[in-house]
Amino acid sequence: MFDAHKPSPAVAALRPSEYTAALVHALRAEPRRVRGARVLEIGCGSGVILAVLGSLGAASLCGVDIEDDAIATGRALLQDLGHEAEIYRGDMWQPVAGRRFDLVVANLPHFPMDHFEVAGRLSTWSSGGIDGRELLDPFLEGLSDHFTAYGRALITHNAFIDVERSRRILERHGLAMHIVRTVLVHISKEKIDLMTPSILQAEEGRSVHRYGPHIFADMHIVEIAAAGTRG
Ligand SMILES: C[S@@+](CC[C@H](N)C(=O)[O-])C[C@H]1O[C@@H](n2cnc3c(N)ncnc32)[C@H](O)[C@@H]1O
Repeated sequence: MFDAHKPSPAVAALRPSEYTAALVHALRAEPRRVRGARVLEIGCGSGVILAVLGSLGAASLCGVDIEDDAIATGRALLQDLGHEAEIYRGDMWQPVAGRRFDLVVANLPHFPMDHFEVAGRLSTWSSGGIDGRELLDPFLEGLSDHFTAYGRALITHNAFIDVERSRRILERHGLAMHIVRTVLVHISKEKIDLMTPSILQAEEGRSVHRYGPHIFADMHIVEIAAAGTRG
């Protein structure tokens, strides 16, 4: 049985981050958009975002993750909280090929760095490859194939990995994006030291803010829907 007071090593490793919290905040701000929706989360990790979606009244919950521990931990959490959920181990869209959802959420690994482990976590937790877009691009390319007629997505999007490129990809698929809110996230020294140098150099003073040894960066919560259907 899941015991919140005694987290297993896997639960501790998959702990929510500031990115998770910002996404949860945005979802909780608009519960009517979740109530009754068939939802999918790509990269569900601990399962906490699916748990939030379940508590907000989603009609069905589906999660995908590449990491074995995430599957076991997510299933245990949702079961313990009394939510039915399908959780699949697999790569991105592959486990849900041919299926469509009203709401797709994702807090993908999209930090611009090579495939390094950070804070003892697998590189698949936060590395988005050199440009940060290794996962984000195929996610955006595949999104429209998984939307129902009124489908929309809510995702985290670092400001320093080319927001306009995301916009252009989505436009090619008849989708539009809208920045719902921007929050500051703290970037650890370990992570900054691994960040792709050309991106760090270009973004310092723009979306990356340094105060002595303390570094913060802008992170957007982005909503995506068919072009012309916002609201
Ligand atoms: C930044 S974590 C987010 C976890 C959780 N959603 C949260 O917000 O706390 C990114 C998640 O994406 C998963 N992931 C990485 N590559 C993936 C892939 N190719 N397909 C599916 N999930 C993937 C990781 O295992 C990890 O659980």
